[in-house]
Amino acid sequence: MVETNDEWIVSRTGIRTRHFAAENEYTSHLCVGAAKSLVEENNITIDDVDFVIVATVTPDQTMPSVSSQVQDKLGLAHAGAIDISAACAGFAYGIILAQGLITAGTHRKVLVFGAETLTKFTNYEDRTSCILFGDGAGCVLVEAAPKGNILAAVTGSNGDGGKDLYLSNMRKQINGQDVITDNKIHQNGRAVFKWAVTTVAEQMQVLSERSGLPLEKIDWFIPHSANMRIIEALCNQSGFPIEKTLESISIYGNTSSASIPLALHRGLREGKVKKGDRIMMIGFGGGLVYAGVVVEWQ
Ligand code: COA
Repeated sequence: MVETNDEWIVSRTGIRTRHFAAENEYTSHLCVGAAKSLVEENNITIDDVDFVIVATVTPDQTMPSVSSQVQDKLGLAHAGAIDISAACAGFAYGIILAQGLITAGTHRKVLVFGAETLTKFTNYEDRTSCILFGDGAGCVLVEAAPKGNILAAVTGSNGDGGKDLYLSNMRKQINGQDVITDNKIHQNGRAVFKWAVTTVAEQMQVLSERSGLPLEKIDWFIPHSANMRIIEALCNQSGFPIEKTLESISIYGNTSSASIPLALHRGLREGKVKKGDRIMMIGFGGGLVYAGVVVEWQ
C-alpha cells in the first residue's frame, strides 16, 4: 500500500506481526472475546460484576457505548457501564477509576477493558502511521480485597500536545491549529516519541516514590507498547532492566489502550508474572495524557 519494507518497520518500531479485526468485527466483539478468555483461563464467574469500564478511542459507535453492548452480550444484569476516552492511557485510567469505585464502597467487582479496532481508523496512505497500529482487547477483573493491592497511582495531562496525536471527524481545529477531519489517526511521530520518553521516565520515579518501592523492587514494568524504541529508551534512561519489561508491540503492534493488558496476558501465559509480583504499568498517548499504577498481582 505504501513504500516501506519489513527491515524499516522492525528496526524503527520492533513490530513483527499485527492483527486486523474482520470487516464486521468491532471493538465490542473483541471485548466479549477477551472477557470469555478471562473466565475460561481463570475458571471464574463474572455474573456478579457490577460495573463495566471500556477504555477505547475506537468505539463501534459514539452512542451506544461499547461498555453497554458488552454488558448486554455478557449478560451482566446488574452492571453499570461507561466508556472512557484516554487513548493509550485508557487502561491505566480504568484501573484507577475501578479502584475509586471499590474503595468508595459503592461497587465490588469491576471489569476493566482496554480495547481497540485502530485499523478501521488508520490512513493506509500515510506510511509513518499505518505501519504502527493493530487491533486487540484485554481485560482484568478488579475486586474488593481485604488488603488493597493498588499501591500507587499517577495521572496527568499535557493538553497543549493535542494536535500531535488526534482522530477527528468534527471540529476542524485543535489548540488553534487546523486539523484533518477524516476520522483517521494523525500524529507527529517525533514529537510524541520525545514527549513519551521524557514524561514516562519522570512518572516511573513518581510511582516508585508513591509506592515506597525503589525500581529494583518492581518485578515487571509494562509501559504502553507504542514502539519498541520508546520502551528501550525508557529502560536506558531509568536503568530498569529490559528483561523485566513486558511488551505487546512485537506481536500485536500499537494497540493503544489494549497494549498493556495484552502485554500482561502475555506475561501470565508465558509463566513470567506470578501472584504477589509488583507490576508498574504506565499508559501514555493522545491527549496528550498519561496514567500509571503500581499493583501487587493477585
Ligand atoms: N517506511 C520506510 N521509510 C519511512 C517510513 C516507512 N514506513 N516512514 C517514514 N520513513 C522515512 C521518512 O520519510 C524519513 O526519511 P528521510 O530521512 O529521507 O526524510 C525516515 O524514514 C525517518 O523518518 P522519521 O519520521 O524521522 O522516523 P522515526 O525514526 O521518527 O520513526 C515513527 C517514525 C512513527 C516510527 C516514530 O517516530 C514513532 O514511533 N513515534 C511515536 C509514535 C507513537 O508511538 N504514536 C502513538 C503514541 S501512543
